[in-house]
Amino acid sequence: MTAVSSPVSEAFRPAIHYACKNTWLNDPNGLIFHDGTYHLYYQNNPFGNIWGNMSWGHATSTDLLNWIEQPVAIACDESEDIFSGSIVWDQYNTSGFGGQHTAPLVAIYTSLFKKDSPHYGRQAQSLAWSTDGGYSWTKYHENPVLDRKSANFRDPKVFRYSGPRGSYWVMVAVEAHDHTVVLYRSDDLKTWEYLSSFGPANATGGVWECPDLFPLPLDGNEDNIKWVLTVNLHPGGPNGGSAGQYFVGHFDGVTFTAASTVTDGLQDPARMDEYLWLDWGRDYYAAVSFNNVPDGRRLMIGWMNNWQYGNEIPTSPWRSPMSLVREVSLVSSNGQPRLSQRPVWEDPGSDTGTVSYTGLDVDGFHPVEGGAAVQLIEATFVPGSAEEFGLVIRGNGAEGTKIGIRPADGRLAVDRTMSGNTDFHETFPSIDSAPLQAPGGTYDLRIFVDHCSVEIFAQNGQVTMTELIFPDPESISVSVYASEGTATVSSLKLTTLP
Ligand code: FRU
Repeated sequence: MTAVSSPVSEAFRPAIHYACKNTWLNDPNGLIFHDGTYHLYYQNNPFGNIWGNMSWGHATSTDLLNWIEQPVAIACDESEDIFSGSIVWDQYNTSGFGGQHTAPLVAIYTSLFKKDSPHYGRQAQSLAWSTDGGYSWTKYHENPVLDRKSANFRDPKVFRYSGPRGSYWVMVAVEAHDHTVVLYRSDDLKTWEYLSSFGPANATGGVWECPDLFPLPLDGNEDNIKWVLTVNLHPGGPNGGSAGQYFVGHFDGVTFTAASTVTDGLQDPARMDEYLWLDWGRDYYAAVSFNNVPDGRRLMIGWMNNWQYGNEIPTSPWRSPMSLVREVSLVSSNGQPRLSQRPVWEDPGSDTGTVSYTGLDVDGFHPVEGGAAVQLIEATFVPGSAEEFGLVIRGNGAEGTKIGIRPADGRLAVDRTMSGNTDFHETFPSIDSAPLQAPGGTYDLRIFVDHCSVEIFAQNGQVTMTELIFPDPESISVSVYASEGTATVSSLKLTTLP
């Protein structure tokens, strides 16, 4: 085997995910497709690799896979940190920030006011604009534009609403400690009028952060549009720490009404499985969607980390990757509208680096060929007598990450207790699980493995689990297994990714 030439701390740098060159990132911000380019801004510490000095970093891509790091877009100063928010293309220059022939991009972000500011102690919404396609930004001199005199009012997602009540800007933001999403409207992005509130509802075990609200056709039927409200919360996720939940319902231009609320008010721990989760893993947070993606596609990306241990993951000089970009759609599942997620991924279109198996009967552990540090694993299992079956990835005999299905319990579990370096934080080594049903009798898993992560899309993306792992760079073996009985791997394909 060839020696690892990169320094150990760099061994975890992702190959198919975005991470900064040598700084810290958290939430994705200001996601927008504009002039043929996808813009990914994000919470960034330009001066270090732990959280602090919050500014908007920036990366661009034309294919959502390869990202180019750009200079910091909106920087913190003595009076404010630049917390999360969004960007709109102000096509008709409603804000007046554009020129006669230039439609500006307008960023709506949360100002966290510092000691030097007359607004010290508050979080309020502010504007910045760009007339060069999102590369340089000017802060509005009359910031903030929306101030509730609150210390926890943040994370505005703004989009253009057009419906029976007219066409205007809508903002969804949170009163984080009240577990409430607040909605506002504006004609010019500068003056905002209160519309309504949503929550508390379902999971309320932590602060509510980074909301989003968007329409999707159910089962592809454009005559049956539903609205999806997503809300991230920390802590209080289904497997501990940070996670995102969603509600499906109706938005009439003023009020969002959920059809899927299980509890109104205080979280009922016994009902966590009934709440709708964007991802059941430990490392998919602050997920929001892009504005202005062509063809009505709804694309989301999340921060692939968890506030429980985010500052301590063993990477350097960078810290924290983003998830893959996911296209979300709404499908009927047992008669209920549920999100289905599919990573935006171009099939390399050749079988180079691919190993395929069909009809493997498994009893115990069975190593397979084709393991790699960065790969896509597609597996279909038919249960037999086994209590549990699945795969062990990024293995070397001693360490490995176990992805297992227990059909009688109806659960998918990821066991990362033996996944490699786990001792940097007491909450990191864990066995995390999600409910998983297979009405058709077979279980489909699509698993994207990278140097420090695994993203699992089960049953056509209806259940997803995203987890960080820090294995030895040389741990690349893959096994399939069945315990206490047999199972059949009806197909297995391992594709090495560049
Ligand atoms: C979510 C969050 C947001 C806030 C930002 C600060 O991860 O706490 O609510 O705007 O991070 O970096």
